[in-house]
Amino acid sequence: MNKNIAIFASGKGSNFVALVKAVKQRRLNCRIGLLVCDNPHAPVLEKARKAGIETLLVERPAFASREAFEKEIIRHLKAADIKLIVLAGFMRVLSPLLVNAFRGRIINIHPALLPAFKGAHAIEDAFQYGAKITGVTVHFVDEQVDHGPIILQEAVPIKPADTLASLEKRIHQVEHRLYPRAVRLCLEGKVRVAGRSLKPRS
Ligand code: GRF
Repeated sequence: MNKNIAIFASGKGSNFVALVKAVKQRRLNCRIGLLVCDNPHAPVLEKARKAGIETLLVERPAFASREAFEKEIIRHLKAADIKLIVLAGFMRVLSPLLVNAFRGRIINIHPALLPAFKGAHAIEDAFQYGAKITGVTVHFVDEQVDHGPIILQEAVPIKPADTLASLEKRIHQVEHRLYPRAVRLCLEGKVRVAGRSLKPRS
């Protein structure tokens, strides 16, 4: 039976769409059981509606604390029997409550080669820094921001003629190819985490 995954997103949702497409084309064998979104104006909400994917809109200001906000999310994740949480542009740092409830079952995509250029403006930061190579990282989520063990990484060269927009475009193209592969790896259970590394499961 197909495992249920939840995608968390706050914005545009191009990675969400790439994952929906991968499932449709059977490159990814799972069911997207839930989209969790914290932003009522996020374009991803309309994309989920179009794709017929159940959506949970949770607005942080409606809750007294981050824990109360996450408890509500956890309740829905458990009800939907979610096996893997896929963060795709979710603009909130998860607290230990959620990280512990799904330890080893939360992954994130970051538009740089971690540990370089952590944070919310990674593409622009690498571009402004004058880096010659940047890239994309998919990693497990732990209590620290952009920190957990790396699942997949791919380099993207920054060319002399690049503008920020052209670099962003190439980074997103790599993201859309890499994320479905990483989700598949995690769901197949063929890898295990050993310290900071991923090893084949024997
Ligand atoms: C992506 O660049 C991802 O790496 C970062 O947030 C962005 C989300 O873009 N974490 P989108 O909403 O999937 O288009």
